[in-house]
Amino acid sequence: MFSEIQEGTTKLLVPQQSTKAIFYNPKMELCRDIDIASIAAFGSPFPSSQLTYIDALAGTGVRGVRIAKEIGLQVTINDRSTPAYELIKRNIALNKVEERTAAHNEDANVLLARTPYDLVDIDPFGSPVLFLDAACRSVKRLLLVTATDTAPLCGAHIGGVRNYGARPLKTEYHAEMATRILLGAVTRDLGKYDKAIHPLLSYASAHFIRVIARVEKGARKADESIERLGFIAQCFACGHRFAFPCADMLNLNVTNTCALCGQKLRVAGPLYLHPIKAREFCERVHVELGNRELGKKHEALKIVHTCIHELDIPFYYEHHALCKSLKLPPTSISSLINALRSNGFSAGRTHFSNTAIKTDARIDELKTLLKALSTEL
Ligand SMILES: C[S@@+](CC[C@H](N)C(=O)[O-])C[C@H]1O[C@@H](n2cnc3c(N)ncnc32)[C@H](O)[C@@H]1O
Ligand SMILES: [Zn+2]
Repeated sequence: MFSEIQEGTTKLLVPQQSTKAIFYNPKMELCRDIDIASIAAFGSPFPSSQLTYIDALAGTGVRGVRIAKEIGLQVTINDRSTPAYELIKRNIALNKVEERTAAHNEDANVLLARTPYDLVDIDPFGSPVLFLDAACRSVKRLLLVTATDTAPLCGAHIGGVRNYGARPLKTEYHAEMATRILLGAVTRDLGKYDKAIHPLLSYASAHFIRVIARVEKGARKADESIERLGFIAQCFACGHRFAFPCADMLNLNVTNTCALCGQKLRVAGPLYLHPIKAREFCERVHVELGNRELGKKHEALKIVHTCIHELDIPFYYEHHALCKSLKLPPTSISSLINALRSNGFSAGRTHFSNTAIKTDARIDELKTLLKALSTEL
């Protein structure tokens, strides 16, 4: 049994109850709204009918049908489930986008290995790792990847090394660590095909991580991407943390004791250390979001707005946890940010957590400022 719903300006038949045969998650409308704005922003310099897009793991076909209808790209919509494929064809007809849409009922890896597409979208259940290699082989211009297997990416269990070839640590900035480990895995898989990664918008929300990255062909550019990988060292005794590039690890130019308290450091990675968004691109996505009819416009604008202003520092500090560790009553986040700035540090909020801050101050400097701030109260 199906019901008719609307996302953006697109009508869709979706199962009344999501099953393995036909999957539809209404909670991912937010992700799809941000995709619409991102793909519109990315595609604006090109005649849209010339760009090819594939949702290789399409479920009801919602992403692809929306992209065909709301942006006008040449779209391929694939799912290996035959009931899903039958519904995809009905959703294409419902929106009258047959001319620029093709439906397939194949294994995603086979289809992607055979065919290059400008834009490749991988939106699986759980981990994208089984599809990353084929997606990286196929993609020419823009790669979009979802991960919902946050446990192995965040260090909650050991699967991070097995699945992503990187060790996560269970830290207060786990959502960002997960995003950067995923980006690191994508960088290495693209590298195999002499392709470089340029992250445009990467974010985490509730149970999922989404990365949207421009792809560029060229062995030298791919080498430069690999240089952007590195590690994060974390002291679980005093909270000190810092990032360092892979080259330092390979030169064994890294200490394993904390410079602040002398305790043992633990190391996470390899992960992507450079900016995970392009500010100017995010500004264009923000404009697109504002101009379009979208069900989750408000939440989407909030995420993208915070991403625009987020500092390019690969971790953050949980403000409440910090106050608690110092046995101080929680100050307001904005007063801490202002105090950091007036002491010459960079500081700001992060979309990864409403209760955290990013700053280039070290933890000891942060603690000194917090103590001073609480005595002013
Ligand atoms: C999370 S759902 C996709 C949701 C969809 N992209 C959306 O936005 O609603 C994942 C889909 O991948 C399909 N799938 C799983 N393994 C596949 C494979 N090897 N090849 C093609 N499709 C596959 C499943 O049938 C399922 O419909
Ligand atoms: Zn320490």
